[in-house]
Amino acid sequence: MNEIQQSIRELAAGKNAIILAHYYQRPEIQDVADFIGDSLALAQKAAQTDASILVMCGVHFMAETAKILCPEKKVLIPDPTAGCSLADSCKAEDLAAWKKQHPDYQVVSYVNTSAAVKAMTDVVVTSSNAIQIVNHLPKDSKILFGPDHNLGAYINSVTGREMELWNGCCHVHSRFSVEALLELKKQYPQAKVLAHPECKQIILNLSDVIGSTQAILNYVRQHTEEKDFIVVTESGILHEMRKACPEVNLIPVPPEMTEGVGCSCNECEYMRQNTLEKLYDCLQNESNEVIVGKEIAEKAVLPIQKMLDWSK
Ligand code: 13P
Ligand code: SF4
Repeated sequence: MNEIQQSIRELAAGKNAIILAHYYQRPEIQDVADFIGDSLALAQKAAQTDASILVMCGVHFMAETAKILCPEKKVLIPDPTAGCSLADSCKAEDLAAWKKQHPDYQVVSYVNTSAAVKAMTDVVVTSSNAIQIVNHLPKDSKILFGPDHNLGAYINSVTGREMELWNGCCHVHSRFSVEALLELKKQYPQAKVLAHPECKQIILNLSDVIGSTQAILNYVRQHTEEKDFIVVTESGILHEMRKACPEVNLIPVPPEMTEGVGCSCNECEYMRQNTLEKLYDCLQNESNEVIVGKEIAEKAVLPIQKMLDWSK
């Protein structure tokens, strides 16, 4: 650990703080965290921790979810402007209008949404548990699903449901190059293609394993004999994969408009807004506290808690 990482660890110990990080965080942040996980694991960890301060190294909706689950704790985020293009694609007023057009529908929302959207939701899902949660609802349920159209279409295809889908997408996952993936598959015919369900349908159709960041990582951990893996998600995940399985060959798929293949990674600039310096400052000053209004938090906790209960 370098000097600033050691100082962060000392500060965290002195303040009874826990540092949670998503797999898309910068490697040096992942290395200093107490816990790294996908959206579901981060929410589960937040719900269980007895630390008094929780620093969420991720994007804003992740910190909000933690705050909703732990209203009595101080939840900090190194950069409070770290947003999510997908969450931004469906505002609370958009969802209110959509619900008005479909009065007898239940709302299933991806966790990549604001607290205000969650407050109008019946049950939240993450990429880890979406199939399980939707299957938990009665077969004849009429469902509005948002905001990720790619994930919604994937859930429909697996569960046989006909959920109405919001037309949102993640600017990172919808940009992977199909041509580059086809080229890489030709170059590495034995490689397994691992994709996040936020990717376009055509990418998912070319993939062997579709799952959350945690599921993709677990697959590599459990199949090291397979040697080559083509990875179609944000490249931050490669750090933990390389640490866990240094002997395998990880091949990231580049975004569209990149020259060559395997030479450029696809990064979420929002996730990368958090830096070690910002993490140190927010912990030192206990700044960038995440606040969720009481009325919204009381409503939003219900669909999140339902998801956690149904994921057990
Ligand atoms: P995971 O829950 O799979 O980690 O995904 C979060 C996310 O933001 C994907 O873009
Ligand atoms: Fe949001 Fe996409 Fe970034 Fe995930 S990768 S946080 S969905 S913008």
